[in-house]
Amino acid sequence: MESIVDRIRSLKEKHNAVILAHNYCLAEVQDVADHVGDSLGLSIKASETDADVIVFCGVTFMAESAKILNPGKKVLMPEPEALCAMAAMCSPDQIDRARECHPGAEVVGYVNSTAACKARMDVCCTSSNVVEIVGGLGTKDVIFVPDKNLGAYSASKCADKDVHLWTGFCPIHQCITAEQVRRLKEAYPGAPVVAHPECRPDVLALADHIGSTEKMIGISNRSDSEDIIIVTEVGMKHRLEKECPGKRFHFPEYAVCSAMKMTTLDSVLHALETLDGEVVLDKDVLDRAYLPVKRMIGE
Ligand code: 13P
Ligand code: SF4
Repeated sequence: MESIVDRIRSLKEKHNAVILAHNYCLAEVQDVADHVGDSLGLSIKASETDADVIVFCGVTFMAESAKILNPGKKVLMPEPEALCAMAAMCSPDQIDRARECHPGAEVVGYVNSTAACKARMDVCCTSSNVVEIVGGLGTKDVIFVPDKNLGAYSASKCADKDVHLWTGFCPIHQCITAEQVRRLKEAYPGAPVVAHPECRPDVLALADHIGSTEKMIGISNRSDSEDIIIVTEVGMKHRLEKECPGKRFHFPEYAVCSAMKMTTLDSVLHALETLDGEVVLDKDVLDRAYLPVKRMIGE
């Protein structure tokens, strides 16, 4: 009998589809994907693909970004209810009101936001290019939505900017405490700490390296240490162990994003069998969000 992976592969060929998966997805979903990466890398892949169908394994803002960048493609989400909790922490109206409070400020939005919010931003960024994007703005005043931690991190690196922070956060990264990281450092003395910039400032203060999920792989590969403390969601372990053989990775407990775990091989198969779960966005939102998202990928 044909395995589920074989069925996915043959349907992928039939529909000329490409499967993109985020680094936090389940291991078996990552393994069936054509490309696995961080938000920036996957957005670039989505914008460049020749495929007719993009199957996006991750959360809704990622699939929406793919649609914004490549609106002619059919973008499918195997689990259309997989929502990033942080993306719900900002609304388009709130952005308009923030602009009224800070006239002349540019609005930088983390890609972890809804398409409707992106349509109100000047430029989007990811955790991988936030410092370059904020640092490269023409204005001193910056409104940064929705992640207060990523915004504070960018402000710490761009001293000439006045960054007005939002109140949003990632519940998974926000729950990781400095005490947890200190305990990991005691358990693995000398192990470098690599943290995601969505972490709280007191956690980032303990980090030797700060970077996106994709950057964590390069940092770990270059490290001389066999033990590495990774301060982010635990799905990251799969790629790290695959791509950095001989190294051991240690994570804080309980850092699990349930939205990222919703997509299973069954749901990928269902999406390819039925072509259900298509991402549909308002034409006005698509048009207005295009430039901020295009600026994010550097074009
Ligand atoms: P990356 O772009 O670093 O993969 O981050 C996405 C994300 O949602 C982290 O919580
Ligand atoms: Fe959103 Fe946090 Fe999950 Fe990333 S880990 S998708 S920021 S809820």
